[in-house]
Amino acid sequence: MRPLLSIETLSVEFTNYQGTSSVLDRVSLTIQKGEILGLVGESGCGKSVTARTILRLIPEPPGRVTSGAIHFGGEDLLTVSNKRMQKVRGNEISMIFQEPMSSLNPVFTVGNQMREVVRLHRDLKRREADALCTDMLHQVQMPDPDEVLRKYPHELSGGMRQRVMIAMALTSDPKLLIADEPTTALDVTVQGQVLAILTDLSRQRNISVLMITHDMGVVAQICDRVAVMYAGRVVEMASVGELFANPIHPYTQGLIASIPNMDDSQHDGQAPSRFQTLYSIPGTVPTLIQPPPGCRFHPRCEEVGISCDREVPELCWMSPDHAVACHTRMGGHS
Ligand SMILES: Nc1ncnc2c1ncn2[C@@H]1O[C@H](COP(=O)(O)OP(=O)(O)OP(=O)(O)O)[C@@H](O)[C@H]1O
Ligand SMILES: [Mg+2]
Repeated sequence: MRPLLSIETLSVEFTNYQGTSSVLDRVSLTIQKGEILGLVGESGCGKSVTARTILRLIPEPPGRVTSGAIHFGGEDLLTVSNKRMQKVRGNEISMIFQEPMSSLNPVFTVGNQMREVVRLHRDLKRREADALCTDMLHQVQMPDPDEVLRKYPHELSGGMRQRVMIAMALTSDPKLLIADEPTTALDVTVQGQVLAILTDLSRQRNISVLMITHDMGVVAQICDRVAVMYAGRVVEMASVGELFANPIHPYTQGLIASIPNMDDSQHDGQAPSRFQTLYSIPGTVPTLIQPPPGCRFHPRCEEVGISCDREVPELCWMSPDHAVACHTRMGGHS
């Protein structure tokens, strides 16, 4: 089946007074129709740049796409006209951000803002637009939608604001929703509710989702497949079940090992210790102005082989749903 979105060997650079940084290096990934793909990795690894490049929202300069293609419904989004891109942004691909307050205008009521979005996408009279707004808020399980429409964004809680954003993002019936850390600012209970709403709507309407997160728990909870990024490269890609059962890349193994595990302490029948230490991956994320040669993870890797600081490992398919880019784990080179 042809994927809904296919990113191929996408490279992006940013140039500032310190030099040019290679922020994305030949990133390739696909999203199938109706699928929820998680994009995970530490801060600064290029998740948001990937999302913004899909929507052509990278400021140029300082940014520059140096190679690649982004296929979406038979077009390459990197080469279509600005006019066409505006249509894609409004109608076919929607995005929601981490902090809804930065996307909502504080001086207009929620109703005003939602109505404007609705009327931008659909030719509706005011009363019809109002009914649609109420219906959309119902769909994101907002209690008392009519009351919410009369409120200003600051009068809502963080979780309610994020529901408003989801409702607005889905008004145009997009084929793809990009959610960039949509629940990071919310407490765990509200995060769970918002994720459940997002997943239900995506399943009901067969909308694909690119879920950007640094939280492996979120990936486990809602994603079908996951791509793990490290310092601007995709290092592993698999279905969620496969990735958690059989992580191959040492970086992915480190990410999974650093998830707090409530069960561990119960294996030996003892109460959880307050002083239990969590695993953390040694070292820090490299600068992308002069990234480490070869595998960008090799300075932090505990299993470094002889080719790792010289040759860039290519993403290789180990099985039909599992790809990894690691010399040591692929056997051949170390
Ligand atoms: N407008 C910009 N100008 C210069 N550099 C940028 C710009 N936007 C992003 N970068 C750089 O690109 C790299 C990747 O940033 P990006 O925002 O994609 O990270 P991220 O994976 O989304 O991190 P986080 O989890 O913190 O959101 C970083 O090194 C960042 O400094
Ligand atoms: Mg980001």
